[in-house]
Amino acid sequence: MTDSAASLKRAAAVRALDFVEDGMKLGLGTGSTAEAFLDVLAPRIKGGLSIVGVPTSEKTAQKARTLGIPLSTLDQMGELDLTVDGADEADRAFNLIKGGGAALLREKIVAASSKRMVVIADGSKLVNRLGKYPLPIEVAAFGHLSTARRIGLRLAAFGYAKPAVTQRMKDGEAVTTDGGNVIYDAALGSIGDAPALAAALSGIPGVVDHGLFIGLATALVIAREGGTEVIEAAAG
Ligand code: A5P
Repeated sequence: MTDSAASLKRAAAVRALDFVEDGMKLGLGTGSTAEAFLDVLAPRIKGGLSIVGVPTSEKTAQKARTLGIPLSTLDQMGELDLTVDGADEADRAFNLIKGGGAALLREKIVAASSKRMVVIADGSKLVNRLGKYPLPIEVAAFGHLSTARRIGLRLAAFGYAKPAVTQRMKDGEAVTTDGGNVIYDAALGSIGDAPALAAALSGIPGVVDHGLFIGLATALVIAREGGTEVIEAAAG
């Protein structure tokens, strides 16, 4: 990560602190930008801010513990006040692509359990149309090759000509999620109707979840060299 990318992530994270209030139950996202948020949250807690965090991955939990951020589980906390998380892409309709860090399932469950979700990102993540970033899809390990074939067929029926649906590997090994599932990435190029695609993918047996987050984000905090823009959804 360049110094400039790191400082933009930090700027977005600092701005997101404005959404945090004493006593909140906070969903803690995953990824480098979400980690920048942990870095700026921890000193506030040392300074007296009282929050309880619910981590969206084992990696985030580990970092939060190291920083002394109090943690609990989603089931113990119930509804959360706010989740702060990064994204791989976001549009101005608050649709997101997430899952570049393979944590999309827990991220989505935590975001859906929160009254508000603030997305923090540098300006490169804000797009006119989602889809340049390959869409992560979390698939049950059982029969995953068969599920991947059916994902390809569903995407083709949806108008994507022969989309590449590739299993995510690292160092020659299949990437597995905290839940023990595998990840496929679908290279779509451009997603015209994100809510319709999200619903179509959710209906495929073997698909545990996918990285399209629809109707979950309530604010985007976008950091650029010239300043930080906050885009908020209209209330109601
Ligand atoms: C983790 O699974 C993802 O959803 C991340 O939130 C997303 O990949 C953004 O990560 P960075 O902040 O590292 O770009």
